[in-house]
Amino acid sequence: MPDTLTLTDNRTGKKYEVAIKNGAIRAMDLRQVKVDDADFGLMSYDPAFMNTASCQSKITFIDGDKGILRYRGYPIDQLAEKSNYLDVAYLILYGELPTAAQHDEWIEAIKLHTMLHENLKKFMEGFHYDAHPMGMLVSTLAALSTYYEEAKRISDPQVRRMQTLRLVAKIPTIAAYSFRHSIGRPYVYPDNDLSYTGNFLNMMFKMTEPKYKVNPALERALDVLFILHVDHEQNCSANAMRAVGSSHTDPYSAAAAAAAALYGPLHGGANEEVLRMLELIGSKDKVPEFIKRVKAGEGRLMGFGHRIYKNYDPRAKIIKQMADAVFDVTGKNPLLDIALELERIALQDEYFVSRKLYPNVDFYSGLIYQALGIPTDMFPVMFAIPRTSGWIAQWEEMVTDPEQKIARPRQVYLGAGERNYVPVDKRK
Ligand SMILES: CC(C)(COP(=O)(O)OP(=O)(O)OC[C@H]1O[C@@H](n2cnc3c(N)ncnc32)[C@H](O)[C@@H]1OP(=O)(O)O)[C@@H](O)C(=O)NCCC(=O)NCCS
Repeated sequence: MPDTLTLTDNRTGKKYEVAIKNGAIRAMDLRQVKVDDADFGLMSYDPAFMNTASCQSKITFIDGDKGILRYRGYPIDQLAEKSNYLDVAYLILYGELPTAAQHDEWIEAIKLHTMLHENLKKFMEGFHYDAHPMGMLVSTLAALSTYYEEAKRISDPQVRRMQTLRLVAKIPTIAAYSFRHSIGRPYVYPDNDLSYTGNFLNMMFKMTEPKYKVNPALERALDVLFILHVDHEQNCSANAMRAVGSSHTDPYSAAAAAAAALYGPLHGGANEEVLRMLELIGSKDKVPEFIKRVKAGEGRLMGFGHRIYKNYDPRAKIIKQMADAVFDVTGKNPLLDIALELERIALQDEYFVSRKLYPNVDFYSGLIYQALGIPTDMFPVMFAIPRTSGWIAQWEEMVTDPEQKIARPRQVYLGAGERNYVPVDKRK
């Protein structure tokens, strides 16, 4: 059987044969389908890219029906159990797990770039005292482009590697500064004796002690959370990174666009919304009433449902298992009981079952962040830190793909036909 698709245009009776490769047809092959020579040709209409692949990728594999997530072929549960964030960041960026020598070299290289230019610190000091940390992160990422003029030379692999190091190394510093600024505490400089997550906790929480003491259980929990958030193939922010990067802008500006995409409540803002929802519900006995309102269309059950996972979200499973290790150190988050009750009721309810709505990664991550002492409005920032390596991997793949051009979708125009201008005194 040939790997082709035969189409019949019933408007003309003509038949067309288009190639099928890797389970897809090329949308441009539809353009030959025309009623006459003046016809532009057939397009596919796909709002929100529900069934359109915008690239070929070797980075992340997801099977939403089976609840599978793999980075470069490695199952997420193995990475979460055995690896650490910087190891996984290397894997996602360069395609293979680093050898011991590459690992050491990578960690040293990252440590060289953890500090921010002092002017950038001043830039961040300029934000209003109650500025949302994610707004500060988005803007500061964009501001980085003004410090590294050479970043524009995106066709040079050495230049790309340098910006990769800078982005991965500086994003925790920017994130922590945005937190310190929002609560009026002085910024804490990076401590390169510590691990990536240990140093992040240091920059977040160090007070007057000469050396910040990292709790290993919390450091590990944060590392696992970071691993789970590294990449998720063509999600809204990865798509923003690629689309904006496709105009050949520098990676800082593209990453700022990706972070802006992540800010929205339907994407990286969801865990913030989950916590607000749990606080609003207030107690376990109010859960049935809340579920009733969701089913009546008065809002969504935040942290439930996923565009891709229609069985379960493997990241949610890992986080739920990890929660106990964190709560052993921090004490149980009182909102946990409400979350467990919501999950229990929703998973038995026809409304959620028939729509294949299961807890996603954001349902439990917020509870853990809160237990770590991280305030709700920092949650999307926590997501952005590890996702930065995923964004760069997506960007690198896009920049080096000879098939990619500036991203520019088509539209189906349904507006007015041509009409003549009406002077203001003649308008009705
Ligand atoms: C993630 C999300 C945006 C995916 O959306 P999607 O794939 O476009 O799914 P749709 O919005 O088409 O939803 C399909 C159906 O399920 C319902 N639905 C989806 N998520 C829901 C939720 N969290 N609570 C209640 N109903 C939900 C929709 O109302 C729709 O019902 P209908 O067919 O009766 O109209 C969506 O599930 C959502 O808004 N979830 C809450 C936010 C969230 O947790 N985001 C984090 C993602 S990691």
